[in-house]
Amino acid sequence: MRRLRLGMVGGGNGAFFGAAHRAAAAMTGRFTLVAGALSSDPERARDSGRDLGLAPERCYTNFADMAGREAARDGIDLVAIVTPNHLHAPAARAFLSAGINILCDKPLTATLPEALALEQAAAQSPSLFGVTYTNAGFDMLREARAMVAAGEIGAVRMVRVVFPQEWLATAAEATGNKQAEWRTDPAKSGAGSLGDIGTHAFHLAEFVTGLTATEISAEVDTFVPGRRVDDNVTAKLRFAGGAKGLLWISQVAIGETNGLAIDVHGDRGSLSWSVASANTLSFAPLNDRRRVIDRASHGTAVKGLMPPGHAQGFVEALARLYLDMAEQIEARRDGRAPAADALLLPGIADGVRGLRFVEAALRSGATDGRWTEI
Ligand SMILES: NC(=O)c1ccc[n+]([C@@H]2O[C@H](COP(=O)([O-])OP(=O)(O)OC[C@H]3O[C@@H](n4cnc5c(N)ncnc54)[C@H](O)[C@@H]3O)[C@@H](O)[C@H]2O)c1
Repeated sequence: MRRLRLGMVGGGNGAFFGAAHRAAAAMTGRFTLVAGALSSDPERARDSGRDLGLAPERCYTNFADMAGREAARDGIDLVAIVTPNHLHAPAARAFLSAGINILCDKPLTATLPEALALEQAAAQSPSLFGVTYTNAGFDMLREARAMVAAGEIGAVRMVRVVFPQEWLATAAEATGNKQAEWRTDPAKSGAGSLGDIGTHAFHLAEFVTGLTATEISAEVDTFVPGRRVDDNVTAKLRFAGGAKGLLWISQVAIGETNGLAIDVHGDRGSLSWSVASANTLSFAPLNDRRRVIDRASHGTAVKGLMPPGHAQGFVEALARLYLDMAEQIEARRDGRAPAADALLLPGIADGVRGLRFVEAALRSGATDGRWTEI
């Protein structure tokens, strides 16, 4: 089986998440990085490509050029888009036009209209389209999803999802922190915490329960003086079918590094998971003993890249999404249906849902928490 050829937009020297993408892709053993438009700065783009061992003619200085030239040669099978949010849409459009498969980071775009337009463009293109809501790659969250779908906790009543972080508790954007600078610039990020981590939390609530959130009542706050985007959001959700949800995201929660956690309560039991103990899932069945399910448990629906007993981490969860994409690409090439698991890779519709959530939360927040359709 030949390795798939991977290209990357963003992720140059000094960037944060591109390196995680490269590590994840490498972990699968299915991709080789061969091309990149790695930075907005041409010299840095070339230097970054050289440092990664790319051929000089495949170190591009802009993504449109990369899409066109890769489509015209024995080019890449997949491009990963890991730029600031406002460039996801133009970069994705370039690769959709070139018929190249895309794995785009979240939030799908900076704004909802961009997301909707991109969804239309994707529908006209043969490209496969994945969105890296990384947490959807954790085995124990896939297990939770399968258990809810199998009715093991009965009908879902209540979902609580929290994602507190502390790294923007002070004005980090004024200290030369590049990641903080663009994330707090509405022209580049869209929303603040809502787009950056709210989209993860919202996706997880729908991913694990299989339910669709229909309405939101949100308080959208900015605690750090002078900041131009939200940094703390508390919200209630209503799901189709009657389940309720609570959501708290914060980037100003001192003491919390990355406290993603979800609990789902049904009428026959509950499940709870947190990223701090990502390798276990707590299952409390009604009138029975609480169980802790781990990756080695018999009968679990999914198995990760490493054998059970070796802790699964964030990069491996991302690797799982790369594996799903590899399976989708190879299945299409071989004219067969992909393995069912590979379809758990979030797609463009999930990306659009994220922007619908952001937009509805902002509208609700602007009207003092009025219930607002998502
Ligand atoms: N899925 C996750 O869990 C997760 C985690 C972190 C970040 N992200 C997402 O990844 C994306 C990147 O975030 P980051 O923290 O790595 O940002 P970053 O600022 O560290 O890196 C952005 C990179 O994009 C490059 N870039 C900017 N303009 C470009 C252009 N026109 N062409 C090519 N490259 C360009 C920059 O030079 C830089 O290398 C964001 O959308 C963010 O939301 C997702």
